[in-house]
Amino acid sequence: MTKPMHFARFLLPLAPMLLAACSERPTQQSDEAATSGYVIGLGEIMGLNQMRHAKLWFAGQADNWPLAAYELEELREGFSDAMRYHAHHKSVPRPLTEMIPEYMDVPLANLDRVVASRDKAGFIKAYDALTAGCNGCHEEADFGYNVITRPTAPPYSNQAFEPAGPDGTR
Ligand code: HEC
Repeated sequence: MTKPMHFARFLLPLAPMLLAACSERPTQQSDEAATSGYVIGLGEIMGLNQMRHAKLWFAGQADNWPLAAYELEELREGFSDAMRYHAHHKSVPRPLTEMIPEYMDVPLANLDRVVASRDKAGFIKAYDALTAGCNGCHEEADFGYNVITRPTAPPYSNQAFEPAGPDGTR
């Protein structure tokens, strides 16, 4: 008997067990996530949103309103991924699909408004309200030791926050 056949004879009785193990999936994953086999963690999504939150601040400070609008959209996408992949999360008391809209919808809508009207004073107020929303949700989620603040320095040294000139110069 050749070696591969020997191997097959050994594996064959295990086949039902192997198949059963492969078909077990965590119940909270979407079908999409189950087929790709990878689900981004909530902590990772939040880490990305922390970066966008910081970039949003420096975009607003530099009157770079198109960049601010972009970061706002990215923040929204991050939160929509959080709700899609982590509708229920560990010991968080309520579904994220309830909590995120409650804490984020109003501040994000206010930011849309002030960014569209290039209102710098309004931006600062709306930005602080967004940050308060992040912290309100962290507290309710038993995660109050993670405190978000206004950033004091740009997160990256290789990105300019000032608007580019008409020909792309600064
Ligand atoms: C559901 C309400 C909720 C909202 C709204 C929310 N967070 Fe979170 N955040 C969480 C939870 C829950 C965790 C813990 C996730 C985990 O298990 O790692 C977290 C974790 C974090 C972390 C830690 C990530 C790490 O790896 O260090 C950061 C940073 C963070 N959030 C930033 C923000 C920012 C910035 C905002 C607002 C723009 C925000 N969060 C809004 C619930 C929320």
